[in-house]
Amino acid sequence: MKGIILAGGNGTRLQPLTLVGSKQLAPVYDKPMVYYPLSVLMLTGIDDVLIIARPTELVLFRKLFGDGSRLGMRIDYAAQEEPRGVADAFLIGASHIAGEECALILGDNLFHGAKLPSMLRKTVRKLRGCVLFGHQVAEPQHFGVAEIDAKGRLVSIEEKPEQPRSNLAIPGLYFFDDTVTDIARGLRPSRRGELEITDVLRAYLAEGRADLVWLGRGVTWLDAGTHESLLDAGRFVRDIQHHQGISLGCVEEIAMYMGFIGAEACYRLGAEMDGSPYGQYVMRSALAHQLNPTPAELMEE
Ligand code: DAU
Repeated sequence: MKGIILAGGNGTRLQPLTLVGSKQLAPVYDKPMVYYPLSVLMLTGIDDVLIIARPTELVLFRKLFGDGSRLGMRIDYAAQEEPRGVADAFLIGASHIAGEECALILGDNLFHGAKLPSMLRKTVRKLRGCVLFGHQVAEPQHFGVAEIDAKGRLVSIEEKPEQPRSNLAIPGLYFFDDTVTDIARGLRPSRRGELEITDVLRAYLAEGRADLVWLGRGVTWLDAGTHESLLDAGRFVRDIQHHQGISLGCVEEIAMYMGFIGAEACYRLGAEMDGSPYGQYVMRSALAHQLNPTPAELMEE
């Protein structure tokens, strides 16, 4: 399965922070925001990722991850000239997807939960058509909203409805079969002039090929697209890391856990940043991995 991180857009809601920089490279506590969505793809088992960003910012993402080989991955880059909508990712990424299944994650979405890795891998194994997730929120009108019937079956999907039919927001993480590019090619821009991800999901729903997976109490989802939510995300990461002694979105550690790189390579990546608590954590994690190579939370089924 291929992965795409959509990390473009004008970041209007985060101005002036985003006037000269990418939202998805803004710090979420101790690391750039894009580490978190990348880590979700990696935990799913995806090692071939396309990062889509504004033309002027691609160079910065490339500086961060190179060709991905240091993480035992392949990471490519593509420019989105104008923010034409989330579903534009499938058109820009058509040659990357190349007729395979694909996961799309928005570059400002963070997920955390001990059961998340096993849940993601189970979702991919059972994929038929597309999978979207549902997460209860207080103000669903700001998101894509899913409606389910009494049996938990998906019945409708709407983009930022004024009168939401449920409080189930659709987070920015989706899995698709090999038909997604064809579906995206048939889309028309919405009233706000964008190729909407919810229109792609609706096309699958109309064919009876869309499944909703409920993100239960065990999974936290944060969209860090506003000043408030960016600060919330940073606080959340800081608190978990501080109290649990683990690091969230630590791509070097995850690359090692997933078997993309060995413990020695992970240690070396940490040592390059040994002046920071992050680098020291990566080094400690690599040493611990040599003693216990299969952390329980990644093995849960
Ligand atoms: O966060 C989840 C929500 O994300 C979903 O519930 C909605 O269905 C989905 O449309 C999207 O809504 P947002 O209002 O958050 O979309 P936004 O325009 O903020 O874009 C989300 C991310 O994608 C953001 O990091 C910028 C990036 N983006 C967006 C567009 C429209 C691009 O890179 N290119 C684009 O053309």
